[in-house]
Amino acid sequence: MAGIPHDHYEPKTGAEKWVNSRLGIIGLVYDTLMIPTPKNLNWMWIWGIILAFCLGLQIVTGIILVMHYTPHVDLAFASIEHIMRNVNGGHFLRYLHMNGASLFFLAVYMHIFRGLYYGSYKAPREITWIIGMLIYLMMMGTAFMGYVLPWGQMSFWGATVITGLFGAIPFIGEPIQTWLLGGPAVDNATLNRFFSLHYLLPFVIAGLVIVHIWAFHTTGNGNPTGVEVRRGSKEEAKKDTVPFWPYFVIKDFFALALILVVFFAVTAWMPNYLGHPDNYIEANPLVTPAHIVPEWYFLPFYAILRAFTADVWVVMFTNWITFGLVDAKFFGVIAMFGAIIVLALVPWLDTSRVRSGRFRPMFRWWYAIFIVNFVVLTWVGAMPAEGIYPYISLAGAAYWFAYFLVILPLLGVLEKPEELPETIEADFNAHYGKSSDDAAATPAE
Ligand code: HEM
Repeated sequence: MAGIPHDHYEPKTGAEKWVNSRLGIIGLVYDTLMIPTPKNLNWMWIWGIILAFCLGLQIVTGIILVMHYTPHVDLAFASIEHIMRNVNGGHFLRYLHMNGASLFFLAVYMHIFRGLYYGSYKAPREITWIIGMLIYLMMMGTAFMGYVLPWGQMSFWGATVITGLFGAIPFIGEPIQTWLLGGPAVDNATLNRFFSLHYLLPFVIAGLVIVHIWAFHTTGNGNPTGVEVRRGSKEEAKKDTVPFWPYFVIKDFFALALILVVFFAVTAWMPNYLGHPDNYIEANPLVTPAHIVPEWYFLPFYAILRAFTADVWVVMFTNWITFGLVDAKFFGVIAMFGAIIVLALVPWLDTSRVRSGRFRPMFRWWYAIFIVNFVVLTWVGAMPAEGIYPYISLAGAAYWFAYFLVILPLLGVLEKPEELPETIEADFNAHYGKSSDDAAATPAE
């Protein structure tokens, strides 16, 4: 697919010409900012900028925190207390970083749900999606390792449980676990390598974000109709788009400002709302907390991990045909990683020729259930694994897999989509009416 035709940068002044003939950086910035963007993008297209902001916030606050933090099992907890009590503005800085992680994940889930509803992952945007999934995996790794750094009870036991999952892999599990931990148990070597990687990964994410943006600048943005921008000529493309600067920059920054009001209110007045009180107790390898729960953004996958207990028939069956190799714990690990893999494969699992959920009457219902299911999984992931809760987790996990592996492939065959608008311009005019410029250009009917 050819890029959207548009005006390119022409150096005007002597200085611009001098720089441009040696380094095309002004042109690159100009073309990036002035990129033609579908004019019908709605508020669900703000999350990319919010994510970019979160990445910047985490890197800046993280770098300052590191100036006062000590990655050693005897000192880490105390150094966090030092940041909270003695460092100027230290408590606020730490709370920004802690809650910044939550905003980051909130934004990434909204961004992913937007993609799932509007079919943003469909051809030709598969690479944008896959790079996004890599970013998401790195985010999870970074957040997990960051949570270990304060060396509280939840840090220690969370790390023990999650790294223990690798131990469930037959034959090679234990060596992998020891290699990850740097020893037989979570200890100083673990804290040190997690610290090192926690510092490194955000920069890898930043690199991937550049490739992500490069990818959707190559294909052009999607939009709520799923109908592509017309590319026959610059004039035609201009009818479907507006330049990113200033229109969407202002819109995105307006949204960011509103979100930041809520974010700062939470950070200032209820900074520990999303945290766990046990993490204010120093790590103690001899005392296990009553309930080990991960941060909220891991809960849906934690629920899937714990859904497959030894009395579930698929687990029993798999155990039987693999001669006991795959036990309940290993099955749970496969399910958890499998849940992310099917999400990554959605560009190839969704067989519908129509991109946007706006024109897919059956899909909309299944998608709504998917979102409710995600919320339920988040809730049940925080509940103890007893009584009715494992059954709810199992139902939720089953729907997750059914959605990607059965419902989406079948809907493409069974569903009759509604009629699509001819062009983005037509859809835009139907929603917002013609602008006076357009009306003047078109003869009265
Ligand atoms: C640090 C993380 C990320 C950043 C900074 C980021 C940034 C952006 C930006 C700025 C856009 C264009 C505007 C918008 O849709 O908001 C975008 C589009 C997109 N992103 Fe991300 N993204 C991130 C993570 C992800 C993840 C985890 C996924 C999914 C797996 C994803 C999938 C997509 C897709 C498919 C598009 C194309 C949407 C379209 O053109 O309609 N992104 N991203």
